[in-house]
Amino acid sequence: MNRGILLLLLSVVMALTSACDNEKMMSEKGFRLPDGDPVAGREAFLYMHCNQCHTIEGESLPTIPGYEPFVELGGAVTRVQTYGELVTSIINPSHKLAEGYPEDVVSEDGQSKMYVYNSYMTVQELTDIVMYLQPHYDVIVPEYNYRIYP
Ligand code: HEC
Repeated sequence: MNRGILLLLLSVVMALTSACDNEKMMSEKGFRLPDGDPVAGREAFLYMHCNQCHTIEGESLPTIPGYEPFVELGGAVTRVQTYGELVTSIINPSHKLAEGYPEDVVSEDGQSKMYVYNSYMTVQELTDIVMYLQPHYDVIVPEYNYRIYP
């Protein structure tokens, strides 16, 4: 996806969310990204250096010299349970911190130590990464019928 379109979408979402203050309008019901490509997701995970801090259960990923990954993604130790939580943990890391780690290991002043990628990551990269990570979690995916117009 073109970054211009992404920025436009984000500004529309921000305008909408700031305009409506009631809870119903803020509901995430119906939110569902299109499916991504897990192979491209693995590539994106590596070129964005997510493996600087993360290992993934059941995957052998190359390490980055000088960095020791300290949070394992997937598996039974982590708390992500729904598709929405998985997406949120990437685009809004401080919303809920991963469980099973001492707070000072994963956060500083209540903020996740994870970088915020939102200005660099395209929606395509996000959907690809989610599709790649999803099988490593027992994630509940909502069933929505979404339509892609040509
Ligand atoms: C500088 C270190 C760092 C980098 C780089 C990083 N993360 Fe994280 N990530 C963390 C930390 C620390 C946590 C645990 C705290 C939290 O939940 O935000 C975390 C948590 C997560 C979680 C939620 C874990 C769970 O099961 O609750 C996901 C998913 C995740 N990261 C994906 C990514 C992806 C995808 C990238 C690359 C685009 C990335 N991370 C890059 C540090 C990092």
